[in-house]
Amino acid sequence: MAEQRHIDHVVFPIISIIFISLVSCYLCLPDQGSPYYNNNYLDQEGGAYGFDSPAYPSYFSTIEDDKFKLRAQILSFEKLGLTSSSSSSATVTTVSVDDFGGLGDGRSDDTQAFMKAWKQVCNSFPGAVMVVPEEKTYRVKPIRFSGPCKANNLTVQIYGTIEASDDRKDYKKDSSLWLVFDNVDNLMVQGGGIGTINGNGNIWWQNSCKIHKSLPCKHAPTALTFHQNNNLIVENLTIQDAQQMHVSFQKCTYVWASNLTITAPQYSPNTDGIHVTDTKHIYITSSTIRTGDDCISIVSGSQNVQVEDITCGPGHGISIGSLGAGKSKATVSGVLVNGAKLSGTTNGVRIKTWQGGSGYASNIKFQNIEMSNVTYPIIVDQSYCDQDKPCKEQSSAVQVKNVVYQNIKGTSSSKVAVKFDCSKNYPCQGVILQNINLEAEASGESVEASCNNVQETQIGVVTPSCT
Ligand SMILES: *[C@@H]1O[C@H](CO)[C@@H](O)[C@H](O)[C@H]1NC(C)=O
Ligand SMILES: *[C@@H]1O[C@H](CO)[C@@H](O)[C@H](O)[C@H]1NC(C)=O
Ligand SMILES: *[C@@H]1O[C@H](CO)[C@@H](O)[C@H](O)[C@H]1NC(C)=O
Ligand SMILES: *[C@@H]1O[C@H](CO)[C@@H](O)[C@H](O)[C@H]1NC(C)=O
Repeated sequence: MAEQRHIDHVVFPIISIIFISLVSCYLCLPDQGSPYYNNNYLDQEGGAYGFDSPAYPSYFSTIEDDKFKLRAQILSFEKLGLTSSSSSSATVTTVSVDDFGGLGDGRSDDTQAFMKAWKQVCNSFPGAVMVVPEEKTYRVKPIRFSGPCKANNLTVQIYGTIEASDDRKDYKKDSSLWLVFDNVDNLMVQGGGIGTINGNGNIWWQNSCKIHKSLPCKHAPTALTFHQNNNLIVENLTIQDAQQMHVSFQKCTYVWASNLTITAPQYSPNTDGIHVTDTKHIYITSSTIRTGDDCISIVSGSQNVQVEDITCGPGHGISIGSLGAGKSKATVSGVLVNGAKLSGTTNGVRIKTWQGGSGYASNIKFQNIEMSNVTYPIIVDQSYCDQDKPCKEQSSAVQVKNVVYQNIKGTSSSKVAVKFDCSKNYPCQGVILQNINLEAEASGESVEASCNNVQETQIGVVTPSCT
């Protein structure tokens, strides 16, 4: 109960600020470059498909603006009502993990030092900084950095390397997590461009059922999990060789993730770069992600997810989904991917849903994307089936609607550069393709579009096209 009040107290003023800025932008700037705005195209489409049509183009035209305001707000933490005296740097406690016995020699177990340092910073009002010193390697077992904290302005400076224990017995209690920030508001995790989180994942990859079909399929840990954090910045950090996923945002609100470098070998199984689940108002920018699975995956419960200036590959590309597994209801809305370079990935921009699910993936825009030797540059797959047994045909589906693909160019390594494999009972609706130019990677080859159950509109040059 107390926790609930606390969250409301934090979130409500932010929502009002955002709302005010959205309204003022809506009034001030019809995006001149947007044909949707000027010819009301989407308004007509929206009417036909029954969504809140005026909100759609205005939503997209305000993105640029509210992004930077939001970051300033997250950073200032003003909405907490901190007075300038209580937040002055004089009262901010700085704690190093070395103060609590951290050795950072790359061999010793430094888990206890991290836990003790965390306890100290978490209990420091009004704010605190926890430092992981540079040029040292700290080896740690699974750690949960839990809140709620007395500190309402927390910074974790990772300037050295944090390396995971590779003894799988250490993960007995919960083999799906390694480092977790849980229930901490107003948190900044920053690596100063030198910090590294290393999941040391080799032992887990070797024991994956995706590599050895005879082994049972088990979870491996996500290297870095953010669970239920409001006002979060993760910046200037390298995350590499995760046991399974690299970074996961779960049930967070108001997140800024920027300048992250995420790498793992192409053969490492299920090593998604950034996974977004049940998270609202998240901006992921200026990052490079090269792994063995999805570059970024956005799944159910996510809303207002903005991805800009991302480089991917190798890996499986940028995915919305998978959604609707095990007949579940999934909802994803308001996703913008603006400015991405994908090379050598198996997909470019993908929406993947299982048969038998329900809910929707809607108001999605992919724009300004360069593909280089991507197997399926544009793909909607509504019969996604990532399991050993074949999936049975089912009538229900997660509805895919209002998806814009704009300014997408480059090369495809397969013949099918554009693939809409949509559900018969729930066709893909309101799909717009504008200025698409995809060619075969191999000279002399041609590419095609494969289109099933999609209601699409084309603007400008679209090659290859469904019709
Ligand atoms: C939060 O802490 C950081 C690091 O100590 C400091 O630079 C910043 O000014 C603090 N912000 C507020 C609003 O107190
Ligand atoms: C991003 O991080 C790199 C190192 O990882 C650093 O050199 C660079 O200054 C950072 N750039 C920005 C814009 O933050
Ligand atoms: C990340 O690096 C950039 C460039 O060096 C710097 O301007 C920014 O303040 C850094 N962010 C954090 C949270 O330290
Ligand atoms: C393109 O991708 C295919 C398979 O994905 C690969 O075999 C080929 O070497 C790649 N070509 C280039 C030029 O990278």
